[in-house]
Amino acid sequence: MLSCCSVRMFLFAMGLLLVILQPSTGQFPRVCANTQSLLRKECCPPWDGDGTPCGERSNRGTCQRILLSQAPLGPQFPFSGVDDREDWPSVFYNRTCRCRGNFMGFNCGECKFGFSGQNCTERRLRTRRNIFQLTISEKDKFLAYLNLAKNIPSKDYVIATGTYAQMNNGSNPMFRNINVYDLFVWMHYYASRDTLLGGSNVWRDIDFAHEAPGFLPWHRAFLLLWEREIQKITGDENFTIPYWDWRDAEDCVICTDEYMGGQHPTNPNLLSPASFFSSWQVICTQSEEYNSQQALCNATSEGPILRNPGNNDKSRTPRLPSSSEVEFCLTLTQYESGSMDKMANYSFRNTLEGFADPHTAISNISQSGLHNALHIYMNGSMSQVQGSANDPIFILHHAFVDSIFERWLRRHRPMLEVYPAANAPIGHNRENYMVPFIPLYRNGEFFISSRELGYDYEYLQEPVCLLMEMYSSACCVKLCVSLQFIGGRGGSLIYVYPV
Ligand SMILES: *[C@@H]1O[C@H](CO)[C@@H](O)[C@H](O)[C@H]1NC(C)=O
Ligand SMILES: *[C@@H]1O[C@H](CO)[C@@H](O)[C@H](O)[C@H]1NC(C)=O
Ligand SMILES: *[C@@H]1O[C@H](CO)[C@@H](O)[C@H](O)[C@H]1NC(C)=O
Ligand SMILES: *[C@@H]1O[C@H](CO)[C@@H](O)[C@H](O)[C@H]1NC(C)=O
Ligand SMILES: *[C@@H]1O[C@H](CO)[C@@H](O)[C@H](O)[C@H]1NC(C)=O
Ligand SMILES: *[C@@H]1O[C@H](CO)[C@@H](O)[C@H](O)[C@H]1NC(C)=O
Ligand SMILES: *[C@@H]1O[C@H](CO)[C@@H](O)[C@H](O)[C@H]1NC(C)=O
Ligand SMILES: *[C@@H]1O[C@H](CO)[C@@H](O)[C@H](O)[C@H]1NC(C)=O
Repeated sequence: MLSCCSVRMFLFAMGLLLVILQPSTGQFPRVCANTQSLLRKECCPPWDGDGTPCGERSNRGTCQRILLSQAPLGPQFPFSGVDDREDWPSVFYNRTCRCRGNFMGFNCGECKFGFSGQNCTERRLRTRRNIFQLTISEKDKFLAYLNLAKNIPSKDYVIATGTYAQMNNGSNPMFRNINVYDLFVWMHYYASRDTLLGGSNVWRDIDFAHEAPGFLPWHRAFLLLWEREIQKITGDENFTIPYWDWRDAEDCVICTDEYMGGQHPTNPNLLSPASFFSSWQVICTQSEEYNSQQALCNATSEGPILRNPGNNDKSRTPRLPSSSEVEFCLTLTQYESGSMDKMANYSFRNTLEGFADPHTAISNISQSGLHNALHIYMNGSMSQVQGSANDPIFILHHAFVDSIFERWLRRHRPMLEVYPAANAPIGHNRENYMVPFIPLYRNGEFFISSRELGYDYEYLQEPVCLLMEMYSSACCVKLCVSLQFIGGRGGSLIYVYPV
């Protein structure tokens, strides 16, 4: 009989360089959407816990003047002082809460992503899962949560229904209630809408969330906020949004009544009446009408979700993206390049976004690849940028796009400096605050591993096999473990779970 063997595991040390960003301080917090806040240009609401602005008495944060990045912008937007989104959020507010430590939120009443507990000291790591790996009850719960979000008004946020000038520089506030789902549809619209220049003039080459380096950080923050709002309205603190792994899919396999809605039996542009998504109404889809009225989308219902998967222009998007296209995209070493917009060659961001050919990484705007391919393929509400979040497939799609961003970050381990600090299109420099979020988030804050932000993807957690030396036998055996990296200030902990 063999004696008990001593076992030694050789774990290679893995250093995670954690870039500690300066703590920084939705859309319009309801408590700041009034004449007084707008005229004072201050959004420093009291925290319920102690009644002081930004939870100051409890050391959560303080009301601070906003420091704007002075870095130069690219040439794409040749105006200044004409769009409320320039130097966000300074047209509306010049003082907001700056939260300390792990606190976050417009009044420092919440925890930073990845933390929980009364004092935000507990690390959290949640896993986003493949929608097809959910049990039927988990999947049904997800659909029910979406439906709840569509039917419950946002407690904390309202939308702006007029520009700052239309609000008479704040003396005539124009805000409106909105449901939690549509709050996100509206934010996506507001970030990507055209600039209203007066008369019938607009400027279209502007987008605070697309066609530039901020595309990936912006959507990452957006999904995290969306996920958190759903956690709040359902009380399900463990909720994560699922993803749809569309690589090599031959058609829209989630377009069934069990999942995101099948096709209507007689009108191929509509959803099947058996899916409750067929009763949803869309908002913010009429960009030409808003432009001609020089108005903002005010979230009036504009009809049902449209979707006709695969009916798209095949010369633009012949099929859904393949695994090899994703793998090619991940080999690109430059996050961003050249003009940093949709003309960028060899840019990981531009190739994943879909303006560059997924086989050559050369910009080709007559084609829609990777991320863009999904939008075009759906041939309906998903296909126009401003209103695309109306179709809940948006969430599953963007979760998967974010997982590809995450794979790239893990593979290339970029320093924060890799994210452009200057000369990106308006709103997309590293230190710019992302439109239209309040509290404020900088693009660069999301250029870090998702594990540091408190989430991971099921398919990225694959076990790592390590050699395990067995003194009692001649040979070595492999021990498979699942490694989880939990970032922290100045280092990381590695948890090892046998599987
Ligand atoms: C902030 O806005 C207020 C109200 O317009 C103004 O009085 C104040 O000077 C501004 N502060 C800064 C630092 O710009
Ligand atoms: C949170 O911090 C407060 C003030 O420092 C302290 O009184 C309280 O016990 C802490 N709560 C927890 C759960 O650590
Ligand atoms: C609003 O502010 C702008 C810029 O400060 C100013 O030019 C304009 O006259 C103001 N409009 C009103 C109605 O106060
Ligand atoms: C969330 O997950 C944690 C850890 O697995 C568990 O202790 C907690 O009860 C869960 N909360 C809910 C609301 O399910
Ligand atoms: C909302 O916007 C629509 C379309 O631009 C417009 O026709 C309608 O009058 C607006 N409603 C309100 C209450 O402003
Ligand atoms: C759907 O595809 C057709 C071409 O097949 C195109 O003409 C139409 O604009 C597309 N509709 C949407 C909403 O994308
Ligand atoms: C991208 O590459 C193509 C093909 O080499 C070239 O024609 C084009 O000018 C390049 N674009 C930029 C912005 O450098
Ligand atoms: C863009 O793609 C189309 C279709 O594949 C191709 O014919 C065209 O040559 C490409 N253009 C560039 C600049 O690569």
